[in-house]
Amino acid sequence: MTASPIKLGLVGARGYVGLELMRLIGDHPGLQLGYASSRELVGQRLVKHVKNADPDLRFETLDAEAVAKRDVDICVLALPNGLSDNYAAKLKKTNTIIVDLSGDHRFDNQWHYGLPELSRNEREGRLCISNPGCYATAMQLAIAPLRNFVSEPPHCFGVSGYSGAGTKPSKKNDATLLAGNLLPYQPIGHLHEQEVSHRLGTEVRFFPHVAEFFRGISMTVTMTLDKSMTHGDVRMCYERVYASEPLVHVTDEVPLVADSVGRHHATVGGWQLSANGRRLVVFSTLDNLLKGAATQAIQNINLACEHAELEGLDDELSVGQ
Ligand SMILES: NC(=O)c1ccc[n+]([C@@H]2O[C@H](COP(=O)([O-])OP(=O)(O)OC[C@H]3O[C@@H](n4cnc5c(N)ncnc54)[C@H](OP(=O)(O)O)[C@@H]3O)[C@@H](O)[C@H]2O)c1
Repeated sequence: MTASPIKLGLVGARGYVGLELMRLIGDHPGLQLGYASSRELVGQRLVKHVKNADPDLRFETLDAEAVAKRDVDICVLALPNGLSDNYAAKLKKTNTIIVDLSGDHRFDNQWHYGLPELSRNEREGRLCISNPGCYATAMQLAIAPLRNFVSEPPHCFGVSGYSGAGTKPSKKNDATLLAGNLLPYQPIGHLHEQEVSHRLGTEVRFFPHVAEFFRGISMTVTMTLDKSMTHGDVRMCYERVYASEPLVHVTDEVPLVADSVGRHHATVGGWQLSANGRRLVVFSTLDNLLKGAATQAIQNINLACEHAELEGLDDELSVGQ
């Protein structure tokens, strides 16, 4: 006898993250999409946008009230920041598991913060799951193994592809402005700076940039250590944390952002140490739409439903833009 599939609803399905999620849900043997909401695409068949979608499903317009009435096991919210609360408040009155991709609940202790490689053992709040930010995932994976040895706030220089800015037109996803260009923005107080400082319990400084490529994040983190370390010491700290983590690759080489595109895993390493062993630079890369968003959401859904964490995530699967 085969177990019945877990039924999901997706709110914000037209966005970059929403479309990526629909593709992964379609490839997942244990998940079934029950509905997908979009105001702009209402009435259109999902299969026009995602090749493996159910041919009968069409995008719907659903407000919070309507979403809470739908019979699904899990509702995934892939809405812009600031819009999830209304939906979450209504859904909390049902038995539906909520996975919120926005930043709205990442500081709320009632919600489980789902970065599985670092928070898998925190069991509380599994009915309400807050998916981490994309840059925030890259920073935490790079800093966490050494968080107890940093003596000053780590400095994180992040470069993202412009899909990180979503589909709503802005300077940060203006392909003409970005051509041959690099756009720095919000060098003080970015949401992900606050998120990482909050989660790691150590302040970080974050300098975000958008580049002309579409997807992927390259993060360069500088840390001042409270004791002198060798390259071998540093490597051992990272291997200890990630040796049995299929979705975090550890490498001596500086990881390149293009290699992360279309892959579920993040890569951390390329360590460079100063002569006194106290100043360390570490690099991380990931696909902002996958390990930075949709892949991590699928890990969280699998864990919440007590399925194998990596079910439906084939790391060899490569997607184009
Ligand atoms: N892009 C990334 O790399 C990334 C990574 C990690 C996390 N996130 C987070 O994931 C969320 C989605 O990101 P995204 O890049 O996919 O954004 P996006 O491309 O701008 O998509 C936003 C989605 O929300 C819907 N929407 C917008 N305003 C709405 C409203 N007032 N009421 C109902 N639906 C509305 C849009 O569809 P309609 O307008 O058709 O309804 C669309 O489906 C954001 O919170 C973002 O911070 C993004």
